[in-house]
Amino acid sequence: MSQREHFGSRFAVIAAMAGSAVGLGNIWRFPYVLGEYGGAAFILVYVAASLFVALPIFYAESVIGRRSRLDTYGAMRKLAPGSAWKWAGLLTVVSPLLILSYYSVVGGWSVEYLFKSLSYSFTGNSTEAEVQNFFPQFISSTWQPLVSHTIFMAMVAGIVLGGIKKGIERFSKVAMPLLFVLIIVILAYAISLPGSFAGVEYLLKPDFSRLSADAVAAALGQAFFSLSLGVGTVLTYASYVKKDENLMVSGVETAVSDLVFAIIAAFAVMPAVFAAGIAPGSGPGLVFQTLPFIFNKMGQGMPLLSYLISISFFVTILAAALTSAISMLEVGVAFLVDEKGFKRRSATLLLAFCTWLIGVVCSLSFGPLSEVKLLGLTFFDFLDKLCSNWLLPLGGLVFTLFVGWRMKKADVHDEFTNAGSCNRRTFPIIYILIRYVAPIGIAIIFLSSLFL
Ligand code: TRP
Repeated sequence: MSQREHFGSRFAVIAAMAGSAVGLGNIWRFPYVLGEYGGAAFILVYVAASLFVALPIFYAESVIGRRSRLDTYGAMRKLAPGSAWKWAGLLTVVSPLLILSYYSVVGGWSVEYLFKSLSYSFTGNSTEAEVQNFFPQFISSTWQPLVSHTIFMAMVAGIVLGGIKKGIERFSKVAMPLLFVLIIVILAYAISLPGSFAGVEYLLKPDFSRLSADAVAAALGQAFFSLSLGVGTVLTYASYVKKDENLMVSGVETAVSDLVFAIIAAFAVMPAVFAAGIAPGSGPGLVFQTLPFIFNKMGQGMPLLSYLISISFFVTILAAALTSAISMLEVGVAFLVDEKGFKRRSATLLLAFCTWLIGVVCSLSFGPLSEVKLLGLTFFDFLDKLCSNWLLPLGGLVFTLFVGWRMKKADVHDEFTNAGSCNRRTFPIIYILIRYVAPIGIAIIFLSSLFL
């Protein structure tokens, strides 16, 4: 086998890991989940879930990945030879591809919205009604969303083809700083909108009466999704991290960037939602319906500013979605390359094609196939529920149990502390979180999916 690639620098590790974490989950999913569960109080639970449950799982995956320097299946096989754990590893090769198939459909929406904003469709002479009707019309049509889905998937495959250093690392190093700059510009714009204050207030005043068990499970599920946990993304990226990097530090940096980004995005989106008079709990269309409306309204007074902001906004969503999507594809590519002797090129093309195909069905499930239901859900919703409520927590459980109960404590210690040279004091706490707290948190997600 050829020499395994490595991320070239500390910054590259953070850019790639945070690139995977910061994505549609932050800009598209977080605001509407937050809106459904009542604002500020949800943020508090979310922060706690990220730190006490999600971060330990992140560490469990990092330890397995860097210890084995292999893909998810190979890692389990190598660290627990002759056991059935490798089949659990195989599951986590399949699940990121399932996520990618519908993620790419939403990524495609952002491609279309970017084209629309470039061609003045939101800020030109369109009426408010036209802009508001655009979203439902667009997603339920047959061809347009398929074209965008195809373009998005082609970009993902293009970056992954380049490999770790020349593809993933290079793209993430440019995209991540850009994302932070753009989202702050958008934030400043959003809070200057008339009527936006109600949105800021919504995010700052906790209403604990709306915090149900359901909200706790939703916060955990969102933390999982947002940190890319449970499907071997972190594990695979960690397998490209050099032995002298401090895993604890890169985990904290990733989690903090992800949290900060989610909160800034919420403060950029919610004021706009209130300024547009849209209900914060109106579901997955929230970002795509609200922002064009705002751009259109402002366009009447300040056409150039609103034009530029609308472009920046959709560039932000697209870049964030891309850095996440490449991490999902990489899990399967690493598996085929490490285990099955594939060339990187054929592995990437094959998997991108299969995922694209499943994505086609997801995309059509908003239109021509909307009547086809699995357990009462459209195909898109079914896949999202299957992944978010079942596969991600299941994968997270596998990884924490593996590190907490199957691996030797001495090996976990050795990997996490770089052979005893750092993190020695924090290790006992992290170990307890991995062994007990995180699995219990995951059990809560499962029980709530079963009974709520
Ligand atoms: N975390 C990304 C986001 O917030 C999405 C993502 C990337 C992901 N890799 C993942 C989600 C693996 C779940 C599992 O958009």
